[in-house]
Amino acid sequence: MNKADVLLGLQWGDEGKGKIVDVLTPSYDIIARFQGGPNAGHTLEFNGIKHVLHTIPSGIFHPTAINVVGNGVVIDPVIFKKEIDALKALGVDVTTKLVISKRAHLILPTHRLIDAASEAAKGKNKIGSTLKGIGPTYMDKTGRNGLRVGDIETNEFREKYNTLVDKHKQLLSFYNYDYNLAELEPAWFAAIESLKELQFIDTEHYINNAVMSGKRVLAEGAQGSLLDVDFGSYPFVTSSNTICAGACNGLGIAPNRIGNVIGIFKAYCTRVGSGPFPTELDNEVGEKIRQIGREFGSTTGRSRRTGWLDIPALKYAIMINGVTELMMMKADVLSDFENIEICTHYNYNGQVIDYLPYNIDPQYLKPITTTVKGWHCDLTKINHKDQLPAELRDYVTFIEKATSTPITIVSVGPDRSQTIKM
Ligand code: GDP
Ligand code: IMO
Ligand code: MG
Repeated sequence: MNKADVLLGLQWGDEGKGKIVDVLTPSYDIIARFQGGPNAGHTLEFNGIKHVLHTIPSGIFHPTAINVVGNGVVIDPVIFKKEIDALKALGVDVTTKLVISKRAHLILPTHRLIDAASEAAKGKNKIGSTLKGIGPTYMDKTGRNGLRVGDIETNEFREKYNTLVDKHKQLLSFYNYDYNLAELEPAWFAAIESLKELQFIDTEHYINNAVMSGKRVLAEGAQGSLLDVDFGSYPFVTSSNTICAGACNGLGIAPNRIGNVIGIFKAYCTRVGSGPFPTELDNEVGEKIRQIGREFGSTTGRSRRTGWLDIPALKYAIMINGVTELMMMKADVLSDFENIEICTHYNYNGQVIDYLPYNIDPQYLKPITTTVKGWHCDLTKINHKDQLPAELRDYVTFIEKATSTPITIVSVGPDRSQTIKM
């Protein structure tokens, strides 16, 4: 049976999904985003240029691949238009290479205001949202009040918009939140107009027809498994299913049509925003990883928190997603370390466990690490696996054994070319 592959992040996002999708796109006909929205920032680098994509799939720079924004994605027309304009300036033909699901929900200016108001009201308990309106938009989707891309083409669009905004105004007054909607609306409606030059289609038919006819489809996840609304560190999560099952919901692909599940992880861990992070290094070692790895958000520019690799969390993500192969990113960032620690177990309420439990709050759970030798050599110019230092090969083997999953790519730099097939 022909199947679609899925690529997703196994940690708290920013694992390097964009880079790998770009690397793999020559083997695919279609690249499809299935959840999230402009909270994502996927970075690609080639020919000395760096691109950050937020809503548009990371296959867009290749000549033939069709890029699909699926029904599970939430779209901010203003940010989408900026992305489109930047791509056009680079000569990318978005009108033929990009299609959008009519079922994808729209982020309204008031969704962003509610996001900001809700975070402000939470005070020190804030989620650390990217403030792109993601949570409020998914709330309206599941609350059955949302506005969809397909509505743009109907006569009732403006009326539906007004009804939803009236509801939002009540919420904003509940929060006692100051805003000026009149300042935001013109750009939003102008962006809606420019969206109309793109193809709005029934992506579920398009993708299923493609898979059946033997075309190769890769679903591109956003965020990471530990930010999943069900399986992440709730409530410090995003509002969508970031896991493999999200590709079924977010594109209309049946579970038995999912083939390879490619899990992307960093050789260490990062997290941006609030919430528990068992292996966090809130010290000079963490700062060193942040500086060498340039761990600052692609979407918000915020500092990313850093820590050692967390094997129980990785195993959890592999289990939930049915990962068939792993790809390890940013190995080059650890090149400067004498020793590297790996978390293999947790001390959970005084008991040693090797799995991720319900509550990972630091007052209940502490990481137990083992120390391995660092590799101390510049990896960034290596282009064959035989040139990898023995200590790094040991690190790879250690993770493969601990997770019972093969690592098929080791990434040694941000550029397309800095990618080693194992
Ligand atoms: P995504 O959200 O999963 O696509 O990841 P981001 O783009 O937000 O963050 C990953 C960052 O690491 C980007 O700045 C990439 O250019 C960079 N990157 C990706 N792979 C590597 C790697 O192997 N080594 C280094 N040094 N940087 C990398
Ligand atoms: P990519 O696809 C890293 C985090 C935010 C916050 C929480 C909720 O680039 O890996 P939201 O805006 O969804 O309400 O924020 O999730 N977050 C991400 N962290 N990478 C991302 O996307 C993220 N998208 C959301 O920092 O903690
Ligand atoms: Mg990112």
